[in-house]
Amino acid sequence: MEGQKRIPSMNGLKRTLLCRDRLNLHKKTWFKYPLLLCVTLLVCYISKEKSLLHQHYHRLVNEPNQVKAPSYRVHPKQRDKLDSKIPRTTFVHYTAGTQYHQAYPKNYHFIIDVGDVCESSSPFLVLMVPVEPNNVAARDAIRSTWGKKKIVQGKKVLTLFMLGLTEGPDVWQESELHGDLIQSNFRDSYFNLTIKTMVIMEWLATRCPRATYGMKIDSDMFLNVDNLVLMLQKPSIPQNNYLTGWLMRNRQVVRSKSSKWYVSEEIYPYPKFPLYILGTGYVFSGDLPRKLVEISRSIKPFKIEDAYVGTCMKKLGIAITSPPDPSQFRTRSNKFDRCMYSKTITSVLASPEQLLSFWMKLKMTPGLPC
Ligand SMILES: *[C@@H]1O[C@H](CO)[C@@H](O)[C@H](O)[C@H]1NC(C)=O
Repeated sequence: MEGQKRIPSMNGLKRTLLCRDRLNLHKKTWFKYPLLLCVTLLVCYISKEKSLLHQHYHRLVNEPNQVKAPSYRVHPKQRDKLDSKIPRTTFVHYTAGTQYHQAYPKNYHFIIDVGDVCESSSPFLVLMVPVEPNNVAARDAIRSTWGKKKIVQGKKVLTLFMLGLTEGPDVWQESELHGDLIQSNFRDSYFNLTIKTMVIMEWLATRCPRATYGMKIDSDMFLNVDNLVLMLQKPSIPQNNYLTGWLMRNRQVVRSKSSKWYVSEEIYPYPKFPLYILGTGYVFSGDLPRKLVEISRSIKPFKIEDAYVGTCMKKLGIAITSPPDPSQFRTRSNKFDRCMYSKTITSVLASPEQLLSFWMKLKMTPGLPC
């Protein structure tokens, strides 16, 4: 009985062992499938990325600049001096080990320039206004308001306009008349604002490297230059590695294709932008343009120009600072408020006419209490 009992129990043990072995084997193979799947997916992903990257650069390298540049011109006052100085780089450079992309400013050259306005004495502040070639009204309004004074609070201030190329009328006459236009040979369009910003940075870095401060300010803005210069003269404001304005924190990248601000995951993979300054008006120390141009060489551009500058700043490891009084950098306000406009630095306006009207109201009745 015992023996008989033992045999089935032995068999039972064997069966259990065998079963466990099979189970182990099963477990081992079970592990292999997801692993294999992962590896396959990874290989697929890498090869897709590579081909996308390849397509990207292929396009950049082989597509020549489609805009036909007019012959190179410079304001007559500076024509002789400048001709020898300006590097005439065109198209996209592609050097082994270095990535240059479409927004890299050195891919373009200036076809109208203001010459050595910074050579004899470096300005304290350069106001750079990106504007479309055909928007003469905005430029004229700025020229007769905040762009008018060359000395503000005892400091040299320069106001210049940055233009790209459009099929519209020639701006050469206007340039001869005012000597404040810079035009580069990229196609001027909303989606090319990042190029425009970086070209502004390149101009500052190469033509005005000793300016103490610079500002990128949109053509539809109100600017209280006196307040800005006063702010920049505060001892707490650094003269290096400084960027300030209206802070944009934790901004989600727009992934809806119909949006004006859409950025694809392929171009910018992260869900949020780093801290940046709203593009309507940002102020920076004179050393930053060169640093931004250099770092931009290795950062894929996307069309949200201000977030792009923020991304460059992050890669540079330079902190963005809040202005001493953040309420001085404002967004839209549709009614004229004497008190507000006498204290503000920037504010978004609706039209050149509004700029003229608000400016008149503020300046033509000095001494009025607010
Ligand atoms: C941006 O400018 C480049 C260079 O001129 C041009 O090739 C490209 O078509 C422009 N893009 C848009 C969207 O206008």
